[in-house]
Amino acid sequence: MIIVKSSSGGELYVDGYRVRIVERLSLPSVEERLKAIREAGWNTFLLKNKDVFLDMLTDSGVNAMSDKQLAAMIAAQDSYAGSMTFYEFASAVKDVLGYEYVMPTHQGRGAEHIIARTFIEKGSVIPMNYHFTTTKVHFELVGGKVLELYIDEALNTKSRHPFKGNMDIEKLRKAIKKYGRERIPFVRMEATTNLLGGQPFSMENLRDVKEVCEEYGIPLVLDGSMLDWNAYLIKQRETGYSNKSLAEIVKEMCSLADIFYASTRKIACVRGGFIATNDKEYFDRMRVLLPVYEGFFTYGGMSIKEIGAMAVGIREIIDESLVGSEVELIRIFVEELDRRGIPVVTPPGGLGAHLDAMKFLPHIPQNEYPAGALAAALYLVSGIRAMERGTMSMERDKLGREVLSDLELVRIAFPRRVYLRSHVDYAIDRITWLFEHRDLVKGLKWIYEPPVLRFFLGRLKDIDNWGEKICETYRKELGEY
Ligand code: F0G
Repeated sequence: MIIVKSSSGGELYVDGYRVRIVERLSLPSVEERLKAIREAGWNTFLLKNKDVFLDMLTDSGVNAMSDKQLAAMIAAQDSYAGSMTFYEFASAVKDVLGYEYVMPTHQGRGAEHIIARTFIEKGSVIPMNYHFTTTKVHFELVGGKVLELYIDEALNTKSRHPFKGNMDIEKLRKAIKKYGRERIPFVRMEATTNLLGGQPFSMENLRDVKEVCEEYGIPLVLDGSMLDWNAYLIKQRETGYSNKSLAEIVKEMCSLADIFYASTRKIACVRGGFIATNDKEYFDRMRVLLPVYEGFFTYGGMSIKEIGAMAVGIREIIDESLVGSEVELIRIFVEELDRRGIPVVTPPGGLGAHLDAMKFLPHIPQNEYPAGALAAALYLVSGIRAMERGTMSMERDKLGREVLSDLELVRIAFPRRVYLRSHVDYAIDRITWLFEHRDLVKGLKWIYEPPVLRFFLGRLKDIDNWGEKICETYRKELGEY
């Protein structure tokens, strides 16, 4: 964002880039949308892109690359081992994040797998500000237990707390006392906490977490998949940071972590991931697993072209012109929905706007998946593909019982540098219509439920054919589109 003084007072936020390649979009009719969501088993993950108008499922792997990133892909030096493109990437990591040692992984969960196998064993307990789906599965698969030590305010979807991604320091101290330092291989902090609705933590909190970790000799792991947005929000919201550059903020955040990992499908607009650290011993322990699960250490399961783009992408996370456009769009979106009385997670954060499905559809019990139903309904009335982040995204317990999610959210993600203000206006209009007709939406039930990460491939059905009814009403009031 380029931020300048407005002639009418206040500040003007101007996107610091322009668009030079465009992709044509088409809006399917409501009839076509009904057919498509039925074919997709009422699961927005299974929709085909030809049936989607605005793909706001995720920011992962769908961010727009810069001209310089594309150029770096052409210039990348293909090689199984020793590519100089890898060393360019390593020096970007050193310059921007301050880490000496780095290894690429095929994506974020590849990094989580390596970290889990290196540090976690049966009986381990891993405190974190909140879990992410793939993180939890990887940590549990090797016998660990995830402990979520979020602040009380984190689950209040109608909050003004600027840093709902903070960890509760008292809870952390208590957990260490309860489980003992030996059972805690590391503490994990996730930037722009995904499943809390893209909420940041403050630098002060990260510093406090680090202090406790140091006191007990526990390493701190930072999931930086969305570090860019967290840094931007620290600059906007935290006392003492408004005059610091993103470069300084990012460096300071990273200096507090012993191990850093990221999905660069998110933060660097490139399909990959990596782990970085300044600790040679940790690095050596992790790196031996790399050729087994990912690939040789200079490509790590990625294409070298992507590593070239990643080297540039890492440098771009501290480019003030390129970072923050999505945060500003999300703010406009969330503030307007909130003003209209539509249940949306506040305050606005990074990643996307998050509808609160339990408040939007209070008549649907959690075991009929209000967030899944709302994501499907949103698609029906707008062609927007969003993502369920609630009970469907949870795993059943060992006895096969449903584990109800703390929150039932529908995430409308903003991939970096992709969507425009008119898309926000359109989404607000359609969500408003849906909210006015929310009584027509009912729950979902499983037709096919996979045993792990069921939200990816599971198929469901709309209870009492509610999809047809809402489409009929839509057609009467708004027409075919
Ligand atoms: N950590 C966080 C915080 C994430 O948001 C993700 C992915 C991962 C780890 C795993 O990375 O997908 O490259 O293997 N988030 C995606 C999302 C899937 O849609 O939010 P990955």
